[in-house]
Amino acid sequence: MITTTGLTKVYQSRGGREVTALDGVDLHVREGEVFGVIGQSGAGKSSLIRCVNLLERPTSGAVTVAGEDLTALAGRGRRASRELREARSRIGMVFQHFNLLSSRTVKDNVELPLEILGVPGAQRSRKALELLDLVGLADKAKSYPGQLSGGQKQRVGIARALAGDPKVLLSDEATSALDPETTRSILQLLRDLNRQLGLTVLLITHEMDVVKTICDSAALMRKGKIIESGTVSELLATPGSELAHELFPVSGDASGADRTVIDVTFHGEAATQPVISQLSRTYNIDISILGAAMDTIGGRQIGRMRIELPGRYEENVVPVGFLREQGLQVDVIGTAVASVPAQNGPAPVEEVAK
Ligand SMILES: Nc1ncnc2c1ncn2[C@@H]1O[C@H](COP(=O)(O)OP(=O)(O)OP(=O)(O)O)[C@@H](O)[C@H]1O
Ligand SMILES: [Mg+2]
Repeated sequence: MITTTGLTKVYQSRGGREVTALDGVDLHVREGEVFGVIGQSGAGKSSLIRCVNLLERPTSGAVTVAGEDLTALAGRGRRASRELREARSRIGMVFQHFNLLSSRTVKDNVELPLEILGVPGAQRSRKALELLDLVGLADKAKSYPGQLSGGQKQRVGIARALAGDPKVLLSDEATSALDPETTRSILQLLRDLNRQLGLTVLLITHEMDVVKTICDSAALMRKGKIIESGTVSELLATPGSELAHELFPVSGDASGADRTVIDVTFHGEAATQPVISQLSRTYNIDISILGAAMDTIGGRQIGRMRIELPGRYEENVVPVGFLREQGLQVDVIGTAVASVPAQNGPAPVEEVAK
């Protein structure tokens, strides 16, 4: 639904210095999914989202939204610029600080994009009321933004973003100005809209919780590049994935030398208990649980457990194979033997251990 190819943005700052905010970003967001881009401040997240709807002209690379090459449209003459405007009206945008006009009522704020598109008054009015109802603010149509809470303002921002019946909604830190409770309700609203309207959502955030709560897929950005991306379950199944580790931290160190430490990931709580005891009985080994976590990620319950088996990895090839045969995902975190070279991050591993 959204594809960027080799997207690059270089800003010329005042002193003549060049800042590469995006450095060859290839992003692929599928239709109907909620895709989260996470990264630290300055990673290039806002630049990415502004380039996706051509609020910012990319230095090079291409952006395609709903099959339309926006970068090609932006590069051509007047006729194309009308087409670009139309294409952009099908992309909704939600901002961190809501960007509402304080002198206009809530309803008039929602009508604004329709006014710009030249939609007649009665139709605009009907649409705005319908959207306010959709975001749960039917009774605030005549209020002014100043009379609303942060969460309500963001609901108005979302209603306004939906005015042009977009297929795609872009959100730049839509919840970072809100408290945790309100954040949850706005994320829930985005999720509902995604499901009800089949809306594709690309959101950027620096909060892992946001990704955990609503994203089907995620990408990690650093210094203008995408370091990792995939569906949440693909990421969780990728040994050594930074995002998976952040989404799902389990910790615990080996209790001594000659131990094998593995992370077992499973879906649903019940599945693993019997498997672990079976493992213990079948191979007559003592298994210690070093750490465990259960969480709901993208609406699915997932668990991860870090366990320790006696002996080096070579001695545990068969038990590890047994766990994999049960359909569990097993990442070998390493053995406590000094022969495994020290590395940063949670997983030095599999290739070393294999
Ligand atoms: N208009 C601009 N002119 C010059 N440099 C810019 C401009 N906009 C952004 N940058 C620079 O580009 C880099 C990426 O900025 P960007 O706003 O995309 O990051 P971000 O990931 O959204 O950060 P944050 O989480 O703080 O919002 C930064 O180094 C920033 O200083
Ligand atoms: Mg930003």
